[in-house]
Amino acid sequence: PPLPRFPRDFLWGVSTSAHQIEGAADERGASVWDAFTAVPGNVKDGTTAAVACDHYHRYREDVALVRDLGVDAYRFSVSWPRVLPTGSGPVHAAGLDFYDRLVDELCAAGVRPVPTLFHWDTPLAVQEAGGWLSRDTAERFAEYAAVVAARIGDRVPKWITLNEPAEHTLLGHALGEHAPGQRLLFDALPVAHHQLLAHGLAVRALRAAGARDIGIANSHGPTWPASDGDEDTAAADFYDVLLNRLFADPLLLGHYPEGYGELLPSPDLAADLKVISEPLDWYGINFYQPTKVGAPLPRPTEFSGLTLPPELPFAPREIGGYPTTDFGWPVVPGALTELLTAFRDRYGDRLPPLVITENGCSYAGLDDQERIAYLDGHLRALHRALEAGVDVRGYFVWSLMDNFEWAEGYRQRFGLVHIDYATLERTPKASYHWLREVLRARRA
Ligand code: FCB
Repeated sequence: PPLPRFPRDFLWGVSTSAHQIEGAADERGASVWDAFTAVPGNVKDGTTAAVACDHYHRYREDVALVRDLGVDAYRFSVSWPRVLPTGSGPVHAAGLDFYDRLVDELCAAGVRPVPTLFHWDTPLAVQEAGGWLSRDTAERFAEYAAVVAARIGDRVPKWITLNEPAEHTLLGHALGEHAPGQRLLFDALPVAHHQLLAHGLAVRALRAAGARDIGIANSHGPTWPASDGDEDTAAADFYDVLLNRLFADPLLLGHYPEGYGELLPSPDLAADLKVISEPLDWYGINFYQPTKVGAPLPRPTEFSGLTLPPELPFAPREIGGYPTTDFGWPVVPGALTELLTAFRDRYGDRLPPLVITENGCSYAGLDDQERIAYLDGHLRALHRALEAGVDVRGYFVWSLMDNFEWAEGYRQRFGLVHIDYATLERTPKASYHWLREVLRARRA
């Protein structure tokens, strides 16, 4: 059956990020991802994003693909080291010019530009000065936000400060699977606080520059306990705090979950929380999958006379009974309805309008019927949340095109458009044609 009708002014879009598509690495400052991908073993297929989709040189072709798809908006990210190669100090004029041209090209195509100011590519120089473990990075970020707003703000209708500070904390700084590759476990918590502070300072800097309609893109998902036993529910609750509440609570309620504020480094936590909870115009959610979590399985603390590192107080469990993507992620559309209604119930009238800023899946092949099924299922799930009264104003597919999927390299393909990495040829997949028809029918 055809998809249910969405509100007339519902915002349809596609998402990308700078490091994953731009390439032209030698035409910008270095980022933590350049350093990380240079270390053998960090990226599973041994690749880097030095060329990626070469979007930096082919953005006109890519904007034409966005326009022909018929979406209202395009979410991209601005590369901090392309604008400010050392993170602060002199602006790299050619880098800032690129975003100026991209925004013009989008406007001319009738597509609203939705920039994200940070999608994980911290300038290497900022990392060397302490990175997100240092409070100073939040201040540098706000200065950078002001530089970008001064240049493209006159044409940008909608802003995103950060992408997924939770994943960047967890994967980048606690577990070391992403750049900058730190394995700090719970000592990574300051990274969360400094990103949230950077967000709040950037909101203020953007507003001071005249920007409106500011949001953030956080990854969220329901956390399911492996059983209803006490140990499993406690473990799931703990994981739920780390993924969901540690970020959403300070942003939306102005305080950290109980017991966490004390763990965070701040000369004045109350003052920081005021900055962090600066009212948002909308709140973005990136949704991919629910997580099932249980108590850690027992294991020795010592092996051959060596003390093993401490175990995390939770362990992921497999979610059986659902199809999985090429990434192995379970496809559970109903979890999106569950997540959205839970957000409404938890945050009530503190919750600004929601936008799904990312949703999508990894499947190989041009005739990607599985992606069509995934998107169709999640759009229906989103519609059920609308019917239940949750205020969701838009939906962005991840991603416009196949791209550099972080530690996976080019092995995972999330695009509506296929990229041949040998020739850089773009080919719309079946899902692209499907979405174009969905959008055309909506306008009819
Ligand atoms: C999200 C990231 C995005 C992409 C998708 C698959 O966590 O924000 O860059 O990698 O996952």
